[in-house]
Amino acid sequence: MLKGKKIVLGITGSIAAYKACTLIRLLIKQGAEVQVVITPAGKEFITPITLSALTHKPVVSEFFNQRDGSWHSHVDLGLWADAMIIAPCTASTLGKMAHGIADNMLITTYLSMKAPVLVAPAMDLDMYAHASTQDNMQLLQQRGVTIIEPGSGFLASTLEGKGRMQEPEIIVEEIKEFFARREGRLRGQRILITAGPTYEKLDPVRFIGNYSSGKMGIALANECLAQGADVELVLGPCALELPHSTLLHTTHVESAAEMYHAATSLFPACSAGIMCAAVADFTPDTCAEEKIKREGEQLVLHLNPTQDIAAAIGNMKTINQKLCGFALETHDAMSHAKEKLQRKHLDMIVMNSLQDAGAGFRVNTNKVTIITPDEVESLPLQSKTDVAKEIINRFIP
Ligand code: CTP
Repeated sequence: MLKGKKIVLGITGSIAAYKACTLIRLLIKQGAEVQVVITPAGKEFITPITLSALTHKPVVSEFFNQRDGSWHSHVDLGLWADAMIIAPCTASTLGKMAHGIADNMLITTYLSMKAPVLVAPAMDLDMYAHASTQDNMQLLQQRGVTIIEPGSGFLASTLEGKGRMQEPEIIVEEIKEFFARREGRLRGQRILITAGPTYEKLDPVRFIGNYSSGKMGIALANECLAQGADVELVLGPCALELPHSTLLHTTHVESAAEMYHAATSLFPACSAGIMCAAVADFTPDTCAEEKIKREGEQLVLHLNPTQDIAAAIGNMKTINQKLCGFALETHDAMSHAKEKLQRKHLDMIVMNSLQDAGAGFRVNTNKVTIITPDEVESLPLQSKTDVAKEIINRFIP
């Protein structure tokens, strides 16, 4: 969320200026207040009327108001803003910013800006790759400006170049991440999350798996990222889209054994772990080298127990680390969950019962009971996103 954040949006003369409308809409949807400053070239691509209608504020472009001759104060804008974002930012504006050429209102605003500045470059890929542009960006980065990397356009990707302005959705994610890193409650923490199912191979084409979709684990990862934590996500096979964040480090695994190795080697560098994965408890004795044929009356599988990842991490845990587990139960839920809390040395266990409608696998909602050694708290049925918030706020208060 960008609730209450005051953002100066600088728009320059690039065809990508049309994307500024989507960017404004998304920023406002996140709760931000947006003030547009546009260069004369920017106005050739998009009209101030469109922009002021979206932001509900007059657009700033000239040093003086044409109508009454009053002066637009770039100094006031510099003090008002929580962040300035220049999107799209042309090669020319990058150059002027790097060298202090204050020949328009946008550059004077930049030079007076007390808040952090982010730029989303947009230009032809040869211009982007040019040493002058690269040098200017480097200069700006050294002065603390954040560059939002352009995406690879559809042609650009084949030419191994890039220059097309990053998509507004991703720019907003980067702005949110920027604030989360600076102000988030969990900034500086590193949190391990296991998520999704595991697949235990039977032969080259078959496996034993489970219905876990990874939704709850990804919702937890999202919440930790929104609060500014670094997330080590150890993820079993999962078709969901992952959050776009440089705070997210994902290790893709398939089997319980792979998940065990990844999670136990990552945990020592983390301050907390959340074991949300639905890990197979048994794995085939051997994986057949060739596809198992349909022969005989019966097929007997021999299975061996897998390592209990949560229990292993519970044993590794130091007094400065915390561990939260999950328990999905079909019967005697409370007593099983409490037993797991103790046996695996967890600080908290989140119990959900398959008997509750709307809870468990493959749905977007969950109904959980949070159990700690001292307390039992049942939460109402709500979205997995809201459940994740409640869990994180209680687990790491
Ligand atoms: N867990 C794990 N590694 C395993 C099995 C479970 O890390 N090999 C974790 C899960 O991620 C969850 C917790 O342990 O946080 C409880 O998982 P669950 O399957 O409910 O418990 P089990 O210990 O497997 O007990 P049972 O299957 O007998 O209910």
